Amino acid sequence: MSETSGSVAERFEQLYGSAPEGVWAAPGRVNLIGEHTDYNDGFVMPFALPHTAVAAVSRRDDGVLRLHSADVPGPVAELTVDALVPQSDKRWTAYPAGVVWALREAGHAVTGADVHLASTVPAGAGLSSSAALEVVVALALNDLFGLGLRGWQLARLCQRAENVYVGAPVGIMDQTASACCESGHALFLDTRDLSQRQIPFDLAAEGMRLLVVDTRVKHSHSEGEYGKRRAGCEKGAALLGMDALRDVPAGELDAALERLGDEEEVRRLVRHVVTEDARVERVVRLLESGETRAIGPVLVEGHASLRDDFRISCPELDLVVDTALAAGALGARMTGGGFGGSAIVLVEEADVAAVTKAVEEAFAAAGFASPRVFEAVPSAGARRVR
Ligand code: GLA
Repeated sequence: MSETSGSVAERFEQLYGSAPEGVWAAPGRVNLIGEHTDYNDGFVMPFALPHTAVAAVSRRDDGVLRLHSADVPGPVAELTVDALVPQSDKRWTAYPAGVVWALREAGHAVTGADVHLASTVPAGAGLSSSAALEVVVALALNDLFGLGLRGWQLARLCQRAENVYVGAPVGIMDQTASACCESGHALFLDTRDLSQRQIPFDLAAEGMRLLVVDTRVKHSHSEGEYGKRRAGCEKGAALLGMDALRDVPAGELDAALERLGDEEEVRRLVRHVVTEDARVERVVRLLESGETRAIGPVLVEGHASLRDDFRISCPELDLVVDTALAAGALGARMTGGGFGGSAIVLVEEADVAAVTKAVEEAFAAAGFASPRVFEAVPSAGARRVR
């Protein structure tokens, strides 16, 4: 499911007149459980998709950054590395340029580059197409300029690029997933210190599948709602006198809600985050004890919490979940930032066709655009491919 590195290298050569020094790939992700916990210092559990952003890159030493994408019509964009200004660019080029900006701001001598990108990660589907773009460029520059940065360090720099340069207040999950995931595993990540555990997650071996249903409803993080939820969570932590909502133990949730008094909206946000962290821990325990089917109900609880307490679902996402469960799925939930994008569905292999058909028919009956359904296999994180 990745662009062939050969065709990306060939296109690079046509554009820039010589072969690239190398080609790198970085995946999109789905999140199994742990939503809107990453900016609360909590737990997440994403895995990498087979869909990747691929970058052919060569170094330059003259301060020029040239960017081109196979996915966005238009000529090569030419920028100057020491004239990159946060939030001055509203186009796709802000993601790779933001990475160069963040690396240079952190003191790394990145003196320019020629970059050609091509991605198979669906854009606007909540599958981290932006993080894949950032991470693939960061990894390429890390290798080419010999920066010696580890995956989690690249993820931090990419998050900074997105927060400050692009201007989207996202957490650290997507970039870490793209940089650090391993094939056949989900990544149990503590977003407070970025400590990680790779959890074996081979559904096919157990006769199950995980479907991604892209509702084709476009989400956008920078458009307010994500930031509002984040600010509400920060307010909750401040009212409780804590650094982050991660610090509210699940057993003390009721007491914490009591202390929040009549702050109804903050109470709902806090309840989601605290119960969601506990759900991630439950899913890890179930997977590690071989009770994979038992994660289904935990995913469903997570969806209800995002819909009712965090209030970031939408009719299309709810329809996927309700229809899939009625058609026999083991579990289902929205994944990613919300307000559209994708849902995941855990399903017995024998039920894949029936569940897919049920969801497609329900969308048609509701008059929604037809969804894109595909199977997600836990795939490799960012790597050099050529
Ligand atoms: C988006 C953000 C992530 C995370 C999720 C919600 O994908 O980029 O940092 O907050 O939403 O879990």
